[in-house]
Amino acid sequence: MMPMTEFVPGNTPDPSIAEVGGVDSKALEAALVDDPCMKCRDVNVYYADFHAIHSLNLDIAKNQVVAFIGPSGCGKSTFLRCLNRMNDTIDICRVTGDITLHGEDIYDPKIDVVSVRRRVGMVFQKPNPFPKSIYDNIAYGLRIHGLASTRHEVEETVEMSLRRVGLWDEVKDRLDMSGTSLSGGQQQRLCIARAISVNPEVVLMDEPCSALDPIATGIIEELIRELTELYSIVVVTHSLQQAARISDRTAFFHLGKMIEVGQTEKIFTKPRHKLTEEYLTGRFG
Ligand SMILES: Nc1ncnc2c1ncn2[C@@H]1O[C@H](COP(=O)(O)OP(=O)(O)OP(=O)(O)O)[C@@H](O)[C@H]1O
Ligand SMILES: [Mg+2]
Repeated sequence: MMPMTEFVPGNTPDPSIAEVGGVDSKALEAALVDDPCMKCRDVNVYYADFHAIHSLNLDIAKNQVVAFIGPSGCGKSTFLRCLNRMNDTIDICRVTGDITLHGEDIYDPKIDVVSVRRRVGMVFQKPNPFPKSIYDNIAYGLRIHGLASTRHEVEETVEMSLRRVGLWDEVKDRLDMSGTSLSGGQQQRLCIARAISVNPEVVLMDEPCSALDPIATGIIEELIRELTELYSIVVVTHSLQQAARISDRTAFFHLGKMIEVGQTEKIFTKPRHKLTEEYLTGRFG
């Protein structure tokens, strides 16, 4: 994580990296970590004939935040959705390559997709609480995944999940009110509480703050950092400052390729690739 409000790129990227997105050994090394939670190898994604993600290799580290940045349409959401098989819901989408979660192939035909999505939860750009009570927004997932057998267990987990996102004190007296009656920032925290209530290993967040005001954004950013104690987190963001504030590693995407990944501080101050530098300095995107 990098405690800064603005970044100052400017070091000349390594001129030996000539080919855009070309695999070089240093780049591959930077994509891998010791003892990862998830491993992605040679991942390609197609929407019918359109090749949306090219040969992507990346490890997701345990108890860290990795941020995906890059211009609109470069494939950040597409790749994110590969990590919990959300792309399965798009008919024309085809994913190839290997993605494992603690060594288990999440695309194995024998694996239960519902359990993959429990273990790799997702939070979307627009808060999307169920049109149910605050309580049921969380209790529902516990019931369908069979994670709580008694009413008392459900109550306990609802409270713990809401406490973990800092929402308990704000809502404990109105748990029967609709989740949609909360403010945008509260709704997003409710959605995060829902995702973590089922005890995931990884939480994917696709621009989780883009519909929120700066105060609600600050609360969510702080929460994301706290959650790394228990989970691995992947965040897509259009805010470079946000990536710098909350992530341990940053991956830069461009035209369906992951151009560069590394420690956030390094990417922001000394990118290896010219395209990364151009994006960080606002020359495109
Ligand atoms: N359901 C789909 N059907 C066909 N093509 C798609 C679909 N979803 C995405 N694409 C295409 O795949 C490419 C990558 O899109 P994606 O949504 O992953 O980009 P992104 O980096 O998340 O962009 P943004 O920052 O705007 O959210 C784009 O060219 C997009 O048009
Ligand atoms: Mg997107």
